[in-house]
Amino acid sequence: MKIVVIGGTGLIGSKVVRNLSARGHEAVPASPNTGVNTISGEGLDAALAGAQVVVDLANSPSFEDAAVLEFFRTSGGNLLKAEVNAGVGHHVALTIVGAERVPDSGYMRAKIAQEELIEAAGQPYTIVRSTQFFEFLRATADAATDGDTVRVPTADLQPIAAEDVAAAVTDVAMADPVNGIIEIAGPERIKFPDLIRAVLTADNDPRTVVGDQHARYFGTELTDASITAGTDAHLGATTFAAWLAVNRK
Ligand SMILES: NC(=O)c1ccc[n+]([C@@H]2O[C@H](COP(=O)([O-])OP(=O)(O)OC[C@H]3O[C@@H](n4cnc5c(N)ncnc54)[C@H](OP(=O)(O)O)[C@@H]3O)[C@@H](O)[C@H]2O)c1
Repeated sequence: MKIVVIGGTGLIGSKVVRNLSARGHEAVPASPNTGVNTISGEGLDAALAGAQVVVDLANSPSFEDAAVLEFFRTSGGNLLKAEVNAGVGHHVALTIVGAERVPDSGYMRAKIAQEELIEAAGQPYTIVRSTQFFEFLRATADAATDGDTVRVPTADLQPIAAEDVAAAVTDVAMADPVNGIIEIAGPERIKFPDLIRAVLTADNDPRTVVGDQHARYFGTELTDASITAGTDAHLGATTFAAWLAVNRK
């Protein structure tokens, strides 16, 4: 099958392209770096010609509230229109577990807007909702740093390895559309400060991690249930400890 991976040069996208190619598919990485831009439309129709499946793994260059909403609306809208024109039979997208439970977050609102576009477009689709990636924890710590202190919510997270996300997305891309949502998550719930502290300790990073019930993550406060997964979620196999053991700085 020809499968176009929008954002195929990114963290998850590059792994999905590799996985699909290894299974004998024609996996095409499509992003500004390969001459395909879902905002301007550059290269989009040519990339989609003859494709059976499109996997949308693009991310916004800016996480500012208005910019990220504009990105996912414009990118998703242009992409779905181009897919209809090209006769693509399955749209796969990666969104976020619990986004609908944290409306104070501009990023999460943008991901919900992305889902709503997909559900309204009439294209056969599968939405894969994931929890946070282990690979995102270092950037999360940096964003929460003030001086030598990293202040993060006290709530549970249930993060997952990027390789496990990519494996799940690869399986979905090769399967029939479910016209609904599949959830994936890591195998354990862990307190946010414990995750950040473990990464910084492994990195010999001297910053102090403080748990604060009112600290915001992507603009929102969190409870233990906000962005952890329900009981139906497919769980990745990689534990946090196993990931950290092979992902030291
Ligand atoms: N981080 C998390 O914990 C988390 C959790 C759940 C879901 N997600 C979702 O997972 C998805 C993938 O995230 P990621 O971390 O793999 O992203 P990433 O590494 O930041 O990669 C982003 C990709 O988007 C591409 N892109 C940017 N602007 C584009 C445009 N105008 N047209 C086409 N492609 C464009 C980039 O292309 P270039 O390389 O050419 O710039 C790059 O390939 C995102 O939608 C994100 O919301 C993330």
